[in-house]
Amino acid sequence: SCTIFAVQADGADVTTIEGLAGDALHPLQQGFWEEHGLQCGYCTPGMILSAVNLLNENPNPSERQIREGISGNFCRCTGYQHIVNAIQSAANKVGR
Ligand code: FES
Repeated sequence: SCTIFAVQADGADVTTIEGLAGDALHPLQQGFWEEHGLQCGYCTPGMILSAVNLLNENPNPSERQIREGISGNFCRCTGYQHIVNAIQSAANKVGR
């Protein structure tokens, strides 16, 4: 929601962070949990949903590709390394 105008999503299917999990956490949600990919959590939904898009397009991204994939999102807390680690962790589990 931070990287496009609402009108650009007109007619599109929209997945929210709440809609991402089923009976269990999505692998990216689990990765953020396990790798401490958040502090205050304000940026977390956008980070995770950007990462979902990234892994859909590239299931085995490099660290640089991960950093580019989340570059439209800002985190004021973590310094990004734990977020990158969380996405790499999820990619390792999903991309096997
Ligand atoms: Fe606080 Fe990212 S965890 S802004």
